[in-house]
Amino acid sequence: MCQRFIHTAVLFFVVGVSLGAYMGLTGNFTLVPVHAHINLLGWVSMALIGLLYAHYPHLQRGRLPKLQYWLHLAGLVLMMSGLALLKTMNDTSFLFMVITGSGMLIAAVLLLAYLVTARLRIECAG
Ligand code: HEM
Ligand code: HEM
Repeated sequence: MCQRFIHTAVLFFVVGVSLGAYMGLTGNFTLVPVHAHINLLGWVSMALIGLLYAHYPHLQRGRLPKLQYWLHLAGLVLMMSGLALLKTMNDTSFLFMVITGSGMLIAAVLLLAYLVTARLRIECAG
């Protein structure tokens, strides 16, 4: 799972910075929230989760981490596509995609919180 998270994170990084460069070059900032969340929920969060799984491999045992990955990925893609359509077309009928995607993402985050609190015991220095 850690490799899958990190590979996906890097793909989001490429998309996120490309969108940032496009916004900077064109001066069109309509998609700022899409850019911000692709970078933060795609690149930063997924890379961090991948590193967490790599460092504590017992966290990725069983089916739950796989479900957490797919919920995070599908939720983010759905939320970002919905938000991009909503912003560019100015049409609130795409809100259901944003809401469904956010719900899936929140479920993925809750699942991660469960996995970490149930399975991780570490000694923090200090
Ligand atoms: C080459 C890389 C990048 C470029 C060219 C770029 C470009 C931009 C631009 C043009 C804006 C809009 C600024 C405005 O509204 O005045 C923006 C906003 C933002 N970017 Fe990037 N960006 C890059 C990478 C990143 C990365 C790696 C992250 C996060 C890890 C990030 C996070 C954000 C956030 C959170 C905002 C919204 C800031 C706010 O709310 O005011 N960006 N970026
Ligand atoms: C399911 C999770 C999330 C949802 C539903 C969500 C939703 C939102 C919404 C509705 C906005 C306002 C967008 C607008 O002004 O058009 C926003 C802005 C923002 N969020 Fe999130 N967010 C989520 C997760 C996160 C996370 C995890 C981070 C950081 C790690 C983050 C960072 C930001 C930033 C920096 C902005 C300002 C971006 C801008 O200037 O457009 N969000 N978010």
